[in-house]
Amino acid sequence: SRGVRRGDDGVVSADGIPVTRIAEEYGTPAYVMDEADFRARCRAWKDAFGPGADVYYAGKAFLSRALVRWLTEEGLHLDVCSAGELATALSGGMPPERIGYHGNNKTSDEIDRAVHAGVGRIVVDSFQEIARVAHAAHRRGVRQKVQIRVTVGVEAHTHEFIATAHEDQKFGFSLAGGQAAEAARRILGLDSLELTGVHSHIGSQIFDMAGFEVSARRVVELLAGIRDEHGVELPEIDLGGGLGIAYTPADDPREPQEVAKRLAEIVTHECENAALATPRISVEPGRAIVGPTTFTLYEVGTVKPLEGLRTYVSVDGGMSDNIRTALYDAEYSVSLVSRRSDAEPMLVRVVGKHCESGDIVVRDAYLPGDLAAGDLIAVPATGAYCRSLASNYNHALKPPVLAVRDGEARVIVRRETEEDLFRLDVG
Ligand code: LLP
Repeated sequence: SRGVRRGDDGVVSADGIPVTRIAEEYGTPAYVMDEADFRARCRAWKDAFGPGADVYYAGKAFLSRALVRWLTEEGLHLDVCSAGELATALSGGMPPERIGYHGNNKTSDEIDRAVHAGVGRIVVDSFQEIARVAHAAHRRGVRQKVQIRVTVGVEAHTHEFIATAHEDQKFGFSLAGGQAAEAARRILGLDSLELTGVHSHIGSQIFDMAGFEVSARRVVELLAGIRDEHGVELPEIDLGGGLGIAYTPADDPREPQEVAKRLAEIVTHECENAALATPRISVEPGRAIVGPTTFTLYEVGTVKPLEGLRTYVSVDGGMSDNIRTALYDAEYSVSLVSRRSDAEPMLVRVVGKHCESGDIVVRDAYLPGDLAAGDLIAVPATGAYCRSLASNYNHALKPPVLAVRDGEARVIVRRETEEDLFRLDVG
């Protein structure tokens, strides 16, 4: 993140706080988040899109009540996809009308809670759900705003598990199959629903704008089709999240300015061609806002050289605090942060303390050859999908999230304790 500096003694500081002090006071492993950097990224996205658009931070990347307060203060909207995320959003003070609710199988109870809370929009994902939302809204005596999640048929160049716009997958209404048009027909026929727009999310950790461009075109085509059939021009489109961040120096992320400009150009151009008024655009970046703001601080426990292969460096966390390497073959970098070393670099694999060999945090990296137990190492860009995907595997206790700001660290999510484990174990 932006507030990270290495001092003359080699000790790295986060917004002025040495990592050695963080480790002493709060223990390791710990996620260290730069609050100013988070807020700056929120503002960068908001400013890039301007007053004619909305930026929904995707809460699945990481969510806590402090973070919801920052988002609220920075004027962002918030995308949630479960009752738990909704509860966190409301508890953190996000105005309900700035919340969007997603998911391919929201339960009737979740839908009712969202409608009751007064969320600004529900993105509907199936015919069953259209009926469920209509029912809940009718019962509550309100008219619920909804968007249709469409599958635009784009193959995003990313890992198969996180690409979502090709045809053969579980999300949304297919455009090609005519389901999206049918969804619009049904919603427009229901008094308790107000159809405000169309939504497309094509995948995650994407660097190439081409997929977003195709998606924007197809979404506008659908708006034109709906206008032709029903005589209504829907006022909004959402083009989802998915912008990639730099995990390693080889990654080349798009800047918010570039994304906003490109999307606005395409949407405006396509709307002109179709003689449509330009709709309000919204986007849902999660990773791009929170990913780079955080690093995970670990203490080295063992250093095990394997002759002719590599050196295995075991840390005090692992796949329970970052499953992305095991799950997606994700790449990360790592640095020694608690001292200076001029030793020759050695090829390492940073692994966790869990009972399986796939428990890898950083597959291939170089660390100084004199690395030893007790050294602190940091893995950058762990703000997205690390704490939110953390598990209690092997009854590991989930690490805390510390927010650093103006030279002070503050716990925003505390470390789990054994009591937390036992609280649920009631047998
Ligand atoms: N909007 C929708 C509807 C989504 O499904 C997602 C992510 C986002 C927005 C935010 O995408 P982002 O800007 O963060 O890429 N666990 C995986 C990523 C799963 C993404 C799921 N949906 C990972 O760690 O790479």
